[in-house]
Amino acid sequence: MENGKFIVLEGIDGSGKSSQIGPLVKRLEGLGVPCRADREPTQRPVGALIRQALTGQTPLDPRVIAALYAADRLDHLVNEENGLRSAIDRGITVVSDRYYFSSYAYHSVDVDMDWVIQANALSAQLLRPTVTVFLDVSAEEAMERIRRNRDHEELFEKEDRLRRTRELYFQAFDRLRDVERVAVVDGSGTQEQVAQRIWSAVSPYF
Ligand code: TYD
Repeated sequence: MENGKFIVLEGIDGSGKSSQIGPLVKRLEGLGVPCRADREPTQRPVGALIRQALTGQTPLDPRVIAALYAADRLDHLVNEENGLRSAIDRGITVVSDRYYFSSYAYHSVDVDMDWVIQANALSAQLLRPTVTVFLDVSAEEAMERIRRNRDHEELFEKEDRLRRTRELYFQAFDRLRDVERVAVVDGSGTQEQVAQRIWSAVSPYF
């Protein structure tokens, strides 16, 4: 049996990737591809600890948080209940909302990017994405979308952070261009337009 593919959607907060996972899975299923949607941080124990840190319930140093995401990713890959690696080996295609490029971009604000890449080396060895699709929107556009759904606190600081994270994504893509397949997709426009662009990036692998 042929292995499943591993498709990852990436983007800054507000890029709209979460709403694109479902339609992409449906489209693949329509082709008869056995498929599952997935996401990081996980719903498992390390993921729960990460959420406690993000809400401030368990304050942790940014370096520790970066290490927790790396641990959550390994658990996502190898856990016996529903590990990614064995699903893919059984022929299931997985579409994941975020994977290690999220770590490279988000944590390199506080920690050296080489360290973050090293901390995720085992995950890269276990499973590299078939393709990573980066939904690209500007920090302004992302902020605009977030504003429509959430409250108005610390807007400026947040937009700066989004801008920096977007830059770090591109730095990471550049640094790993010899080993990773990345498709940058324009995330502006209607959901249908974006879905169509994502499909153009993903369909050649099927
Ligand atoms: P996400 O699920 O996209 O956010 P939400 O569903 O709450 O909108 O991800 C949660 C946050 O985790 C997001 O801000 C990005 C961050 N993150 C990292 O900092 N490092 C990582 O490795 C991953 C996977 C996510």
